[in-house]
Amino acid sequence: MAKYLVPIGNSKVAPIVKRGRPKGSTSKKSKMRHAALQAWETRRKNGFVPKGKPVAPVKVAKSYKKRTPDWSGRTEKKVARAMVFDLIMKSRLIGLILTLPAVECILERALLQKISRKFRFHACEFGKKLYRPLFETIKSENLPMIPYFGKIADLIDIARQDDYAHLILDYCGEFTTFKKEVAKALEKKIVKVGGIVTVTFSKRDGTKSVDVQQFLAAFGDYKLMLSHDYCEKKTANHNKGAAMMLLAIKRIR
Ligand SMILES: C[S@@+](CC[C@H](N)C(=O)[O-])C[C@H]1O[C@@H](n2cnc3c(N)ncnc32)[C@H](O)[C@@H]1O
Repeated sequence: MAKYLVPIGNSKVAPIVKRGRPKGSTSKKSKMRHAALQAWETRRKNGFVPKGKPVAPVKVAKSYKKRTPDWSGRTEKKVARAMVFDLIMKSRLIGLILTLPAVECILERALLQKISRKFRFHACEFGKKLYRPLFETIKSENLPMIPYFGKIADLIDIARQDDYAHLILDYCGEFTTFKKEVAKALEKKIVKVGGIVTVTFSKRDGTKSVDVQQFLAAFGDYKLMLSHDYCEKKTANHNKGAAMMLLAIKRIR
């Protein structure tokens, strides 16, 4: 007998009748989230998170400029990407990266092409209309990425210490929205020692980069590497556009 049917013949217990729209774990959205997380857990068990020895540092050529991608037509977003690229290259750490690559995976492809083919990615996208094209990019270019349809916070929740080499948290929203999950990632130390954590936020809500610097400084095991304000989608010498901030820290112990 199904467990939600309570016998009423011999027993005096009446069936529990629930009215109205199912809540919590029975809603369509939470069922989808649950299924996505279960699929993710199966993949993890199948070994997509590198286990055992930490990934050996990659040998980066001294004249690393030779390896610098062509960021031509430098909009401020490209300048910001180039900064993240440089920090990751100088860290000399390759391995698994948790990222928000959007559809084109520009930075991730640059890392693969110019630094090391050994990088691997967990790529998150919560936009319904963007997830499918991202999936197609990964498939058509055979990128070493596992896509996750949902919030990156889900993967931060289930991540363990030292799971990732780097985090590229290129949010398009505001600091206040994502503050808690960033704090969780830093507290749990899901990035290996020597790894880089970058965060990008909009300044729409009035948060300044100095506020985020203070927030990051509260986590003792990291060192501030970069704080850069820029305007999205405009050329480097144009100061209009969505005001953004990019900050980066490195795990030092
Ligand atoms: C700023 S864009 C990423 C740009 C990309 N890194 C680049 O260099 O071109 C952020 C992308 O991640 C998605 N996104 C933003 N916040 C997210 C979150 N918390 N969880 C999952 N996806 C998110 C957005 O829908 C968007 O496609």
